Amino acid sequence: MKIAIGCDHAGFALKSGVIEHIKARGFECVDVGTYSTDSCHYPVYAHALCEKILSGECELGILICGTGIGMSIAANKHDGIRAACCSDTFSARLTREHNDANVLCFGERVVGAGLSLELVDAFLDAKYMNSGNHITRVKMLSDIEKGNL
Ligand code: RB5
Repeated sequence: MKIAIGCDHAGFALKSGVIEHIKARGFECVDVGTYSTDSCHYPVYAHALCEKILSGECELGILICGTGIGMSIAANKHDGIRAACCSDTFSARLTREHNDANVLCFGERVVGAGLSLELVDAFLDAKYMNSGNHITRVKMLSDIEKGNL
């Protein structure tokens, strides 16, 4: 499985550890930037990452900014992206299982290096339940995007 990863300047310090961790787990990782702590704009990197997922090149994505919030707002502007900003492992697991989230966001100013890796593991190890009301509700998310709800 190929995982896309992106950050802004406020998430840059966490990113390399997350990439190392993902690779050590045997996944491929596509880094869409940013590549330094120079001030930049998170929507640029959220958009670049979403394109990787929507094109099919990557299955899942991880976005890191200061809080994780700006990245999740930007990512969720894309039709077909379900991004969740999480700072606990329960939410990181459940957002895959129930919401079929395809992007995990978190904030470097919120979580530490150790928790960031546990969030990534909870997200990557979980599987969408793909049954009953979960299917109905995830389809409704897509109906909203298409103006059909
Ligand atoms: C950058 O200062 C900060 O606003 C950004 O990383 C993010 O936290 C926005 O949601």
